[in-house]
Amino acid sequence: MAVLPANDATIAAAAASIRAGQLVAFPTETVYGLGADATNGEAVARIFAAKGRPHFNPLIVHVANISDADKLAEITPLAHCLAERFWPGPLTIVLNRRVNCGLSELVSAGLETVAIRMPAHPVAKALIAAAGRPLAAPSANRSGHVSPTRADHVAADLGDKVAMILDAGETQHGLESTVVTIDEDRIVLLRPGSITAEDLSSVTSAAVVRAVEAAAAPISPGQLASHYAPAAHVRLNITRPVAGEALLAFGPQVPNHTGPIINLSAKGDLIEAASRLFSALRTLDASGADTIAVMPIPIDGLGEAINDRLRRAAAPRHA
Ligand code: TXA
Ligand code: MG
Repeated sequence: MAVLPANDATIAAAAASIRAGQLVAFPTETVYGLGADATNGEAVARIFAAKGRPHFNPLIVHVANISDADKLAEITPLAHCLAERFWPGPLTIVLNRRVNCGLSELVSAGLETVAIRMPAHPVAKALIAAAGRPLAAPSANRSGHVSPTRADHVAADLGDKVAMILDAGETQHGLESTVVTIDEDRIVLLRPGSITAEDLSSVTSAAVVRAVEAAAAPISPGQLASHYAPAAHVRLNITRPVAGEALLAFGPQVPNHTGPIINLSAKGDLIEAASRLFSALRTLDASGADTIAVMPIPIDGLGEAINDRLRRAAAPRHA
């Protein structure tokens, strides 16, 4: 790991690392971000591994301009109005993903939506442009630690996990971006941040409501954990699947089976498995099988988050 002052040469090197699937920490106007190519599922999985989160949270995708955002997600007129006013800047807007947007499914933790923001920091802008990719980036701290506002905070927390830390001194806001979503004609505040509810109200006649106040707030971050679940029943830790079940396999030793099979990672690699988890569940769900049998997946490293998500998928649900 190297902490390097951000300049044209180090930004170009960081962009090359991003394109190679590695992690780079970079400054934004809010806090330092832990960045990866948002179109590369394994790179995104490495973010979760580095942060040591016991579960998958959807991440923010950072773009260079509104037209790049428009390629990834459907920007409604109200969202467009907010973007015009607050981008570049500390506002994140949750939007519906476009089909074939190229983003990894893990970046959205399997949801149909994606959180997008256009940062104002010149180093963040230059890095996105040089990488030529949208950047997935949560705050660059280990899970449970405070968000980093200086490069040395990142080094202390994640120094051994990143290819490089671009240093541009202290961040301006020191508080994460405001996260909103659009619910019909209302702006729903999912996470308070640098841009206040009053700031949002001042530019539109749309109502601004806090997620807890919204009549139905299915997308508030606290509830996301239970959001995506397959329609099929899910059975865990299965070594002998029943014929006709769909099998979500893991590792080199797969039992003989008649029925749809997807192996999350034939080589038993948890990063690869995490990157494929959500699309594999969707594909098996769409196969028409009533039940998805899941082979045992080790609990170490990213296995904890994978098992957390599978346990939720297997939990009894209300109709
Ligand atoms: O200022 C920031 O926003 C920093 C810098 C690096 O840009 N990033 C950041 O990312 O704070 P993170 O991953 O720590 O926080 C992302 C927030 C979480 O509250 C998450 O639940 C919410 O955004 N979020 C992301 N995708 C979402 C989605 N599809 N639906 C609802 N909430 C989402
Ligand atoms: Mg954070």
